[in-house]
Amino acid sequence: MTKLEFPPGFLWGAATAAFQVEGAAHQYGRKDSIWDKFARIPGAVIGGDNGDVACDQYHRYQDDVALMSDLNVQSYRFSTSWARVRPDGKSGKSGINQEGLDYYSRLVDSLLDNGITPWITLYHWDLPQALEDRGGWTNRDVAELFVEYAMTVYDTLGDRISTWTTLNEPWCSAFLGYTAGVHAPGRQDSTAGLVAGHHLLLAHGLAMAELRNAAPESNLGLTLNFTLADPVDPTDPRDVAAARQFESQHNSFFLDPLFRGQYPVDLMEALQQAGRFAPLDEAIHDGDLEIINAPIDALGVNYYHGEAVGHRPDPTAISTEAPVDRPTSSPFVLDEGMYVHSRGLPRTAQDWEIQPEGLRRLLVHLDKDYINGSNTRLYITENGAAFNDRVDDTGRVNDLDRLDYVKQHLVAVHEAIESGAPVDGYFAWSLLDNFEWAWGYGKRFGIVYVDFTTQERIIKASGRWYSQVSRENAVTV
Ligand code: FCB
Repeated sequence: MTKLEFPPGFLWGAATAAFQVEGAAHQYGRKDSIWDKFARIPGAVIGGDNGDVACDQYHRYQDDVALMSDLNVQSYRFSTSWARVRPDGKSGKSGINQEGLDYYSRLVDSLLDNGITPWITLYHWDLPQALEDRGGWTNRDVAELFVEYAMTVYDTLGDRISTWTTLNEPWCSAFLGYTAGVHAPGRQDSTAGLVAGHHLLLAHGLAMAELRNAAPESNLGLTLNFTLADPVDPTDPRDVAAARQFESQHNSFFLDPLFRGQYPVDLMEALQQAGRFAPLDEAIHDGDLEIINAPIDALGVNYYHGEAVGHRPDPTAISTEAPVDRPTSSPFVLDEGMYVHSRGLPRTAQDWEIQPEGLRRLLVHLDKDYINGSNTRLYITENGAAFNDRVDDTGRVNDLDRLDYVKQHLVAVHEAIESGAPVDGYFAWSLLDNFEWAWGYGKRFGIVYVDFTTQERIIKASGRWYSQVSRENAVTV
């Protein structure tokens, strides 16, 4: 047995998001977010599930904080709901729902009382529906309104929180939400995704500037979801081009403006050739890229799996997009000659291939090609897996498959650190089984099991094991 020690001070956390756990969806002044409305579209979410109750964390946060404390969770990554804080998306003091802010204040106090560091995300996909009615992320004004919302939260919690994440996975918000239509708001317009993506980045940049000004010592940044696209046949230039195209639309569309101050040139040229560049070009105003390109302290890395990409379709490939029961389109604005292939690897219950070595390569790539000696630190803000958990006769959930998944990925993180990648923390996705977006409650990602009828929580074997990893700051393999 080998004990892989992590650097002193490495942060062990667990993550959730407001819409996925809070419930109390139409109480205490909260109004519809785009996910409330989307969940009402027939066929949009498996089983017609919604976020009305979820894990009821709004009412049970104290128990959940106690659970985290039992699990040696050092930091809780949660998000605030814009639809709870500024339910109508309106500007000015009158747009604030004080009850919503009070809830987050209580949650943060409870975390701090238990020695748990709050790690806040300001936007994890739940835009107030009132703002979608004004065009949502395709409307530039929403970026400005995001800043006002962010600073409303800051004004209340800034004295107690030092890590601020603006956005979670803008790729999903923009391209799953506005191009593919498999996520809220369910629009299917290829160039709307590009425009939404730009406005999300702008919202991040504008909020960064305000937060930096208000709290220069804070740890500021955002979280992106990454994939590593490998060509099916690395000797075939068509597969190499397809894999590059995939990564470019997935990773570089966000990374390049953030770290290099420009959108990927090859992608912009390809969009131009396809006649799809004009809406994005119009959305980009002078000075936007400088705003977006401001240095960040923390880049959150969400990693679940990579992709093998080829120029020909693979009839054995399984779609890993949300399995909605209504017509949708591709999340890729340019998708000709670009196909995901199966690698024949073991899969999770969500049919995502298990590919831990991709995480090591991803972290090394981010360090070498983007961080490049700057002060940005990396945190794995999400990693985890859905499996078909079962409560056994003794009342336990013996999820050895998840335990093994997390272990393998932590080994990959450890290897990346040994290769010099500046990784300072890991957050398990998720603390709790929860509302897994278009998949509903059927896909369980928690290290803690939730019985959605009784709201009983059961710490899974993976949770007990994770608590030991955190206590020892090491993984034994
Ligand atoms: C990520 C989301 C998170 C969760 C996991 C499984 O894309 O950020 O909310 O649903 O996937």
